[in-house]
Amino acid sequence: MTGGTKVISVAITGAAGQIGYSLIPMLLQREVFGRGVKVRLKLLEIPQSVSNLKGLVMELEDSGFGTIDSIEVGSDPNVIFQDIDWAILVGAVARHPGMERKDLLETNARIFYEQGRALDQVAKKNVKVLVVGNPANTNCLITLRNAPSIPVGNFFALTRLDQNRAQFQLANKAGRHLDEVKNVIVWGNHSTTQVPDFTQATIGGEGVEAFIDRDWLEGEFFQSVAERGGAVLKARKRSSALSAAWAITDCVEDLIRPNGVFSAGMYTRGNRFGWDEDLVFSMPLRSVERDGKLVQEVVDMGEFDPFIAEKIRASEEELVEERKAVFEYLK
Ligand code: NAD
Ligand code: LMR
Repeated sequence: MTGGTKVISVAITGAAGQIGYSLIPMLLQREVFGRGVKVRLKLLEIPQSVSNLKGLVMELEDSGFGTIDSIEVGSDPNVIFQDIDWAILVGAVARHPGMERKDLLETNARIFYEQGRALDQVAKKNVKVLVVGNPANTNCLITLRNAPSIPVGNFFALTRLDQNRAQFQLANKAGRHLDEVKNVIVWGNHSTTQVPDFTQATIGGEGVEAFIDRDWLEGEFFQSVAERGGAVLKARKRSSALSAAWAITDCVEDLIRPNGVFSAGMYTRGNRFGWDEDLVFSMPLRSVERDGKLVQEVVDMGEFDPFIAEKIRASEEELVEERKAVFEYLK
């Protein structure tokens, strides 16, 4: 608090990149950290991009956001992550057309190894960490494994973009408004093996199969959601940025306010599904208050549909393979 106003310290990495350019104004404008809460922005970039970042800072200053408390920029995570409440880890190399996200593993793993270590050393112990840089699930695993002093329940990988994409596809196909689509779950990896689960989803309170043919759901729907990132990349020649920023903002909101079921990657230790216990896996979560603190619990969605169960296994196997590839970065 400064003078009665709540201030929250938020680190954003890769802030000079294309997601950063949409994300930072969006976070401020949507007041996701609470109405009237001021944000101490701590922006991290590689040294070569700090000058670019200073340009963004000038633009933020010139836009007159009332929600900014202060802005700090730098290239040392041990400085920028000092005492932060939130870390939004966007900074990483993005894929080019023709690549899969896992092709970025080798390039990006070190970033998350170093940033995990820095979080462990200097961030608040109750910091919440949202990993966006791809491949997001495995980068999140690297980060949390290198930050053992921070509870594993505070780490998340972004799959809210996949949820938003799936919701749009269902609303569009059924010819209904987006707001009517509920309970779309994304299981597994943020990759083409992801599992956009339509079997729990409802439109206007009724199961989606009352409106949409099962063949389309298992075929075109699955494929279009799983490959949407690639389709955006092919069309723009750059990966999604505006929709990614929107999904990050949605996810932060989901984590800050009890707001129904949402999907995000979380650590699988102690999971009740029988999955490998050392992965970051997208699953249905709900934010709930416990002992005066907001925590995320996994929502029980009942038995898996056999088609969905088989797809989940394939996504799990892919994540196990990704983990093998970054073995040297796991503490
Ligand atoms: P970009 O290339 O426009 O920006 C990335 C920024 O990160 C650059 O400014 C770069 O200098 C910076 N950076 C690189 N290494 C860094 C480090 N060690 N510390 C701090 N900053 C660093 O890319 P973008 O479009 O903003 O995407 C960023 C990442 O997010 C990519 O990996 C992309 O694949 C991923 N992404 C994930 C999702 C998701 O849903 N999980 C969605 C969209 C994009
Ligand atoms: C997306 O889903 O749009 C991002 O993960 C970027 C990408 O490489 O597809």
